[in-house]
Amino acid sequence: MAPLKVGLIGGGGIASAHIRGYREHADKIGVTAVADARQETAAARGEELGATAYTDYAEMLASEELDAVDICLPHHLHRDAIVAAAQAGKHILCEKPLCLTAEEAADVRAAVRAGGVTLMCAHNQLFMPAVAKAKELLDAGTIGTVYEVRTTDSFYNDFDPATMGWRASSRTSGGGELIDTGYHPTYLMLHLAGGLPVEATAMLSTHRLKFMEGEDSAQVLIRFDNGVVGQLVTSWAYQPAPNTERFSVVGELGSLRSDGNSLTSRLRSGASETFDLEPNDTFVAEIGHFADSLLGGTRPLHTEEEGLAVLGILLAAYEGARSKTIAPIR
Ligand SMILES: NC(=O)c1ccc[n+]([C@@H]2O[C@H](COP(=O)([O-])OP(=O)(O)OC[C@H]3O[C@@H](n4cnc5c(N)ncnc54)[C@H](O)[C@@H]3O)[C@@H](O)[C@H]2O)c1
Repeated sequence: MAPLKVGLIGGGGIASAHIRGYREHADKIGVTAVADARQETAAARGEELGATAYTDYAEMLASEELDAVDICLPHHLHRDAIVAAAQAGKHILCEKPLCLTAEEAADVRAAVRAGGVTLMCAHNQLFMPAVAKAKELLDAGTIGTVYEVRTTDSFYNDFDPATMGWRASSRTSGGGELIDTGYHPTYLMLHLAGGLPVEATAMLSTHRLKFMEGEDSAQVLIRFDNGVVGQLVTSWAYQPAPNTERFSVVGELGSLRSDGNSLTSRLRSGASETFDLEPNDTFVAEIGHFADSLLGGTRPLHTEEEGLAVLGILLAAYEGARSKTIAPIR
């Protein structure tokens, strides 16, 4: 039996990726209970994992001896699950977005503090080897003071309105594409910019997925307190043009650029280096990091603090788009 016992809350699509991580790190962490509101899903996941199945996560929290929960629910349910888990004294891994509004953010922060638990945001793209290498070079001052960060996460999404479910409605998704897939390039931007976000604005579009309530594409500008300006493009409507960077960072001494796999540094001095990095399963790395953080009592890469900073950027971006202004990050 692994030292850390986890209760999985929500056994849908993304749970499969997390389960790969638990299998890989079975010596440290394992799912011993699962809760899903759909009886068939709960039973199937329970059988797959050899875990006790529940249809009500409150009952799971009350009945099971757990160290942590892993929240893989639709967006509008994150806040309540975080608060319930923190009140039960369980550590938390939570899928993105952490929650949806400023009021929910206050509840999350208060509950995590009062519960004295560790919350890790499931920001899996931080575990891309190219991101880790870029962060290492930035921290070492390779390109000096950073001026600009650009991130892109766009793909041609063939969502079918009949099966899109909770993602089609702003009430349950919290917005549109930006607060869903667009959440990834936002936390990546925060990670690479190395400051706190101050103000943001956005242009939102619906190019193709007209059945969605929210936007299917977004372009966001963000200013950070250390002077960095970030530019982010994200879409479900279209594939980015060839050679569009996954992320890039420009500073006083040169730049870093990545397609998501390799990373190239190019300095004004003329020196250039390309790092070809071993691809990994970012979800497996994420679960390993969660286990190590809990076992070692160390701070996860992104806690609720970064999760709420990302939410702040997105709420300001939506506000900026609505009011056609640059909105402060609250
Ligand atoms: N990191 C990534 O790349 C990535 C990719 C996909 C999804 N996600 C995130 O994962 C989360 C879940 O997305 P998904 O694609 O797995 O969604 P999904 O709809 O496939 O799964 C959600 C599950 O939650 C269950 N559920 C709904 N209400 C419940 C309740 N009250 N109690 C217990 N279970 C309940 C549903 O029955 C379903 O099985 C979202 O936050 C999403 O943004 C992240």
